[in-house]
Amino acid sequence: MKDKTPIAAIILAAGKGTRMKSSLPKVMHPVAGRPMLMHVLQTAQTLHAEKIVTILSSGMPQAAKAVEGLSAVAIQDPQLGTGHAVRCAESALKDFSGIVLILYGDMPLITPETLSRMVEKLQGPRSPSMVVLGFIFPEQNAYGRLVMDNQGKLQSIVEVAEATPEQLDISLCNAGIMAVPSSLLFSWLAKLKNDNRKGEYYLTDIVALAREEHRTCGVVVTDYAECQGVNSREDLAEANMICQSRLRQKALDNGVTMFDPSTVYLCADTYIEADVTIHPHVVFGTGALIESGAEIRAFSHIEGAIIRKGAVVGPFARLRPGAVVGESAHVGNFVELKAATLGTGAKANHLAYIGDATVGDHANIGAGAITCNYDGAKKHKTVIGKGAFIGSNAALIAPVTVGDHAVIGAGSAIAQDVEPYALSLARAKQTHKPGWAKGKPKKK
Ligand code: UD1
Ligand code: CA
Repeated sequence: MKDKTPIAAIILAAGKGTRMKSSLPKVMHPVAGRPMLMHVLQTAQTLHAEKIVTILSSGMPQAAKAVEGLSAVAIQDPQLGTGHAVRCAESALKDFSGIVLILYGDMPLITPETLSRMVEKLQGPRSPSMVVLGFIFPEQNAYGRLVMDNQGKLQSIVEVAEATPEQLDISLCNAGIMAVPSSLLFSWLAKLKNDNRKGEYYLTDIVALAREEHRTCGVVVTDYAECQGVNSREDLAEANMICQSRLRQKALDNGVTMFDPSTVYLCADTYIEADVTIHPHVVFGTGALIESGAEIRAFSHIEGAIIRKGAVVGPFARLRPGAVVGESAHVGNFVELKAATLGTGAKANHLAYIGDATVGDHANIGAGAITCNYDGAKKHKTVIGKGAFIGSNAALIAPVTVGDHAVIGAGSAIAQDVEPYALSLARAKQTHKPGWAKGKPKKK
């Protein structure tokens, strides 16, 4: 077996994406909680690309920051077309020799499997000199068309603006993605001309240049769903739907029970172990980790949170960043946790807010109890010991510590530390007037 040829990836992302009507660069819009550009970058990493170059325009600091440390950046200003964009990566790849994959920052759904097929085709017996990704789209559209010769080999790619009516009838379209050996790519790019309708340097013209050198160009065909570029908010919504169904399928395949997967929203980084049960209408934000045996009931929102083995969360629970629900702990309806750890077997079953707090093992938080963690200027911490019992509607005014096994009476406002095993009450004494209501005039 011959050694694996090194792979480099160039991600085109300099376009402004005006049709998004957004102040955020198009490629930074999220699909399943992750910017499109980062999906593509991760796909390149999955293929062990030894060098990744992202092409940005100036004025995209968010994108430059997002790829920092993961990809080199080349700035393309002004933007003179896809061929010119790829050429901008030349100096970043001057020491690279191998296969260059050209990817698009607005095509987040492309899979590593399809890219691998392209790389394999480029390395196989009687391999072509370059490989183009195509898809079948029978209706009228704005994609470049793959023109085949009478031996079924790719002859050229024509842009819609340049195509003849016969060429517009071709249903095999150009996805844009290519795999080209570095030794050929940059020599072809140097020869590109911009004498076309748009006055741009078309990357697609390298096919005709290859043919002039009597080289062959291969085509790998895949589903349209993978090749869909995101240009508008509508495309973005569609890409999200496709990504959601992939993530749900992956979770099901990994042993997660979902009674109605179509109502469960996942993020690209949602990590769910086998034997977790998720009821309908659960939404995961980024950074959620759910351990096996946990159950998440309907209408819960979970973001930046860890749910340990066997815990039960919801219905109607909200876990915000930094929430950790301990093993076999319970978080019930209308309970909100933020930067708070619930110990093993602890319970907060109804209507509670626990923020900037630690709650010990087997402690019980009563209905309506809250931590008052914010004094208008700063956040303060609440510590609740193991086995403690916080009565209903108690307000724990942080910073405050409730010792192990201490009991807080219902309705108390607690601003001072409570020692272990103590009972603490802080509420007005009840006054009692027997017979007071007798003889009072009654409403008719
Ligand atoms: C391109 C292809 C077309 C293909 C389609 C697939 C060319 C000439 N045409 O057309 O055959 O069917 O993609 O979606 O390649 N970009 C830059 N700098 C530039 C120009 C573009 O970075 O100067 C980036 C854009 O941000 C975008 C991508 O390249 O991510 C594609 O550019 P776009 O102008 O949308 O190309 P299309 O006209 O759609
Ligand atoms: Ca496009």
